[in-house]
Amino acid sequence: MADPVNRAASHGYALAESLFEVRGDDLCVGGLAVRSIVSQVGSPAYIYDGRQMRRAYRRLAGALGGFASIYYSAKANPAEPVIRLFLDEGAGVEIASLGEYRAAIAAGAAPDWILFAGPGKRRQELEAVIEGGIGEVHIEGMDEIERIRSIGRPVRASIRINPVPAVQVGAMRMGGKATAFGFDEEELEAAVAAVTTASNIKLVGIHVYGGTQILDAAALVGGWRHAIELAGRVARMAGRPLSTVDLGGGLGIPYYSSDRPLDLDAVAAAIPDLTALMGSEPLLAGARAIVEPGRFLAGEAGLYVSEINAVKQSRGVRFLVLEGGMNHHLAASGNLGQVIKRNYPVVAPAHMAAAADLPATVVGPLCTPLDTLARDTGLPDLRAGDLVAVLQSGAYGLTASPVNFLSHPQPAEVLVEDGRIHLIR
Ligand SMILES: Cc1ncc(COP(=O)(O)O)c(C=O)c1O
Repeated sequence: MADPVNRAASHGYALAESLFEVRGDDLCVGGLAVRSIVSQVGSPAYIYDGRQMRRAYRRLAGALGGFASIYYSAKANPAEPVIRLFLDEGAGVEIASLGEYRAAIAAGAAPDWILFAGPGKRRQELEAVIEGGIGEVHIEGMDEIERIRSIGRPVRASIRINPVPAVQVGAMRMGGKATAFGFDEEELEAAVAAVTTASNIKLVGIHVYGGTQILDAAALVGGWRHAIELAGRVARMAGRPLSTVDLGGGLGIPYYSSDRPLDLDAVAAAIPDLTALMGSEPLLAGARAIVEPGRFLAGEAGLYVSEINAVKQSRGVRFLVLEGGMNHHLAASGNLGQVIKRNYPVVAPAHMAAAADLPATVVGPLCTPLDTLARDTGLPDLRAGDLVAVLQSGAYGLTASPVNFLSHPQPAEVLVEDGRIHLIR
C-alpha cells in the first residue's frame, strides 16, 4: 500500500492534471500559469476557471437530459461573474438572502428564474424580493406563511419539506433529522392547509434538500424519487396540480483520496424512471423538475493559492506557514461541516514536476491550531516565497470564511476565461 503522504499527495496531483493543465513545472488555469496569475493579482488569491465551471454545468445538463432545470445555488460562490457564467449556460439561480438576490439581478437573472429558500427570511427581505419579482419563495415554516400572508401581495411559493429519516443522504445532513429547514414530512398536511388558505400565496411546488456532498448516485436518485412522491402527495392534499418539483442540490465532488466522483452515468440511467414516476401522477403532468446544485457546478473550478510566508520545523514536523489560511478558506481547515479533519488536495503549482514526497503540514497565519489547511501531506521541498494551491476550492471558499478574524488582508478573486484574467473581487 502507498504510504499515506504519497497517497494523499498523488490524489492532488492527479486531480490537478485531470481538471486543469500541467506544463512542465506549471499548473495552468485557462492556459495561464498559476504563478503568472499570482504575479499579476498578488497572493493570496482565489482563481476560478470559467471553462471548468461550464464543463461541470454541461456534464450535469447532459446527464439530466432535459428532465430537470438547473438553478445555480449562489451561496456556493456568489461572485456576480460566476452567477453570470451559469446564467449564460442557461441556469436559474437559487438564493438565500436579499444580498444574493441583488447579486443575481446584477448578474442579469430574470426575477422569474430566481428561487428564494432559507429558514430565516426577514420581512424586509421578503418584501424586497416580492416587490422586485421572484420565481418562487420556498416556505420553511408557519411563521413564514404568516409573514407572507401579512405582506399581502401575490406570491408563488413552494413548501420546503424535511423528509423522513429513511431518505437521509450526503455529508452535512440538512434533511431527515430535526432541523430548522422546512416542514417535517410528518406535518405536511397542516403545512399544505395553512399555505392553501392564504389567499395571496399560490402553491406551485415543493422543495426537498436532503443534504450536501452526495457522492452516491443511488442515494441521490433515491432522494429525488422520494421528493417526487412527496410532490404527488402534496398535490393531492392541495387538490391542485403543481408546476415545480425542486429536488435540491447536494451533488458532491471528490475532495479526499478515498472519494469516488459522483457517477453521472448512473444518474443519467435513472432519468427515464424518474420521468415515468412524474408522469404517473396526473397532478404533476405539467410539472418540471428542478435541481439546485452549488458545489458540483463551482467547486472543482477553483483554486486557493498562497505564497509560503515561512517554513519552520517543530518536533519533527515541517510547517509551511501560508499568507492566508482558514480566514480565507474555512472549509479547507475542516471547520465547515467536516466531522473528521481530512486534507483538501494541495499541490505546489509552480513545482508540478518535482517529487511531492516531503511530508509537510500546511498552516495559515492565525493564532490557532485550527488554522491548518493540510496535515502531513506530501509536497516538494518548498521555501518561503513558493506557492501552495488548495484544489476543489471554487465553492464554499472565501464567502464561507471568517475573513475578518485577525484582520489580515483579503485575497483577490479572479475568473480566468478565454485566456484572460478578470478580477472579480
Ligand atoms: C436550499 C439549498 N439549496 C442548494 C444548496 C446547495 O448545495 P450544494 O452546494 O451541496 O449543491 C444548499 C446548500 O446548503 C441549500 O441549503
